[in-house]
Amino acid sequence: MQIGVTLGTIMVANVLMIIIPGQKKVVAQLIAKETPNPDFGIKAKQRSLHNNYLTLPVIFIMIGNHYPTAYATSFSWLIISLIIIVGALIRHFFNERHAGKKSPIWVIVPIVLLTLMSFVLSEVDTPKEDTFSPKKLSLIESEFPNDLKETVMEITSYKCSTCHVKNPSWEGMLKPPKGVYFHEFKDLVNNYRGIYKQVAASHAMPPGNITFLEEEERLVYAKFYHKVQEILEEKN
Ligand code: HEC
Repeated sequence: MQIGVTLGTIMVANVLMIIIPGQKKVVAQLIAKETPNPDFGIKAKQRSLHNNYLTLPVIFIMIGNHYPTAYATSFSWLIISLIIIVGALIRHFFNERHAGKKSPIWVIVPIVLLTLMSFVLSEVDTPKEDTFSPKKLSLIESEFPNDLKETVMEITSYKCSTCHVKNPSWEGMLKPPKGVYFHEFKDLVNNYRGIYKQVAASHAMPPGNITFLEEEERLVYAKFYHKVQEILEEKN
């Protein structure tokens, strides 16, 4: 977003501070029947070429912020850099073509390569919040106190299972919401942060408290979260 704002500001400033003032001066010179200074035209052309190369990257940023694929990775800075180059290459192709020159077909090679690279970068660092390896899961499970485990599983089966199972019984619900299901204890552990946020830190779940989750039960989820945290800290 910051890169988009910066590029957009540059584009507006080019028009507002260089192109329009230059044009006004040229018009004034023409009205006064003087020969207009060509400098203004040259500068305006240069700035509008800059803007021309920036358009596609800016459009990408406007739309891309709706798609985590583009930015929800620690390589987002690299992805945007590649896309800026790709955008400029596409513009270059059309600029040459529209100027009546031979279309620079060669740009297709870097465009395809750089686009592929950004897809790979987006994929290698997909966020996988809360998903533990099987080894870590069984470690957490074995360290976890049994009574708390039973309590939390019991509450979950009463208060969450109409929706958060692979085949929800909630009318009209075909799949568990957001793919979050709680069949076994390890499913809870895999979502321990999400559960904490939804149930203990806020009252977002159950929606509208439709299954009447009590305050004490929310506290049980808070305890569950802190216990998982504690085990993780001890073992690291
Ligand atoms: C009436 C159905 C229903 C019940 C009951 C319910 N949930 Fe949900 N849950 C949903 C829906 C719908 C969403 C998806 C919300 C969204 O898309 O933002 C969701 C999302 C979630 C998420 C993922 C949130 C995210 O943004 O990643 C968690 C975690 C969660 N619920 C935990 C629970 C827990 C724990 C309970 C029981 C205490 C519970 N839910 C009870 C319907 C339900």
